[in-house]
Amino acid sequence: MSAPTRQVLGTVDEIPLGEGRVYTVGEEQVAVFRLTDGSVRALGAVCPHAGGPLADGLIDGSVVVCPLHNNTFELTTGCSPTGQPSVPSYPVHVDADGQLVLG
Ligand code: FES
Repeated sequence: MSAPTRQVLGTVDEIPLGEGRVYTVGEEQVAVFRLTDGSVRALGAVCPHAGGPLADGLIDGSVVVCPLHNNTFELTTGCSPTGQPSVPSYPVHVDADGQLVLG
């Protein structure tokens, strides 16, 4: 799975604080999470356990909890403390104009 190239996804305001949204970037589905401190994280959007939608998961501290079977994934690394394969993690930031920039 290759890293997406630098791309503006939209404005950060499209993601409510404490939630995630999924974006299609090339062939990839990328889940972007906006934490309550205003920072953003980006992971592969598809849970490797059984394909659950990680963007719909609850954020619990430093992890997102898959809504289907509650496996967790670190928001920074994509590693799974509950023993699943990792999901990819991507660099993402908010620029001075409030645009969400992946890559
Ligand atoms: S599909 Fe994500 S934990 Fe099962």
